[in-house]
Amino acid sequence: MKVGILTGGGDCPGLNPVIRGVVQTVANAGGQTIGFLEGWRGPIEGNYIELTPESCSDIIFKGGTILGSSRTNPHKDPSLVEKILENFKKMELDCLVAIGGDDTLGVANKLHAEYNLATIGCPKTIDNDLNSTDVTFGFDTSINIVMEAIDRLRTTAESHRRVIVIETMGRHAGWIACYSAIASAADYVMVPEVPANIEEMCALLKKRRAAGKNYGIVVVSEGAHISKDQGYVTQHGEVDDFGHVALGGIGEVVAEIIEKKTDIETRWVTLGHLQRGGTPSAYDRVLGTRLGVHAGRLAASGARGRMVALRGTDVVDVALADAVGELRTLDLDILKEAAEFFK
Ligand code: F6P
Repeated sequence: MKVGILTGGGDCPGLNPVIRGVVQTVANAGGQTIGFLEGWRGPIEGNYIELTPESCSDIIFKGGTILGSSRTNPHKDPSLVEKILENFKKMELDCLVAIGGDDTLGVANKLHAEYNLATIGCPKTIDNDLNSTDVTFGFDTSINIVMEAIDRLRTTAESHRRVIVIETMGRHAGWIACYSAIASAADYVMVPEVPANIEEMCALLKKRRAAGKNYGIVVVSEGAHISKDQGYVTQHGEVDDFGHVALGGIGEVVAEIIEKKTDIETRWVTLGHLQRGGTPSAYDRVLGTRLGVHAGRLAASGARGRMVALRGTDVVDVALADAVGELRTLDLDILKEAAEFFK
């Protein structure tokens, strides 16, 4: 048995534990694994490295992905899909494990559904916004990074009697912002799922100041809207291979509004790619390893067109087709729990 593996889309802590899990489990079943480099660009160009349990023995603590990643979309051009099919045959692969978010998994699903390519999916993203799995690895590390950053920002905010606005990643889902706001006892959070009530937020910041709390922490998700009528803030007009705009900049906009409306000196921090970097948390190492082991077992069992997923505390497999296409946005009950503290 020969299994290919690739990591596509934005990197995240926990990818290397998955790779190690797949490689070890495939080897235990008597198979061999190769790792394609830089997402879907790897199988298009036939660019790969051999992976063995020995070569993967010490990668669990490394952030990012030892295979590299890209946002390459082979469906942009039919000749790219042809190249993948040719290389798959030439290399005598039995199966390809694609580790990625909605875009990467969408490609794996389409290649399976339309070209009968033997693919298996494994969900990843710091954004935690994938359907069919309860949690994605990368998310836990990310919210811990944000929480630590806010702990640091809190002391300087307090010294200077300022409000600090922290802009988080998360694309169109508010998981990172909401969880880190709860973990940091923030004064307010803005998420993409619900248009912000700026007046309410500013009134709250003023009320708290009048009551003696002389600083404020506001967490804003990069995909949040200032109001019902305003769209999200983008860095520039360009889109990637999958048609996504680059979000970012709302933190600055919100900080300016707060300063104007409250007369409180306000600063903003955009945490950006810090949220995706560095060593994975214990939770993400364990989740990544478990998903990798199950993906390796699926590959060895001959199952295809499936995706490994976490349901409760169990790792299960689901149809790839059911897992892609629709994002899992923030559970609004959790936002309501957070909002108990915004009074
Ligand atoms: O999907 C993960 C993510 O980090 C998003 O939260 C963010 O909007 C995007 O990727 C940033 O992408 P890039 O690394 O291409 O700037």
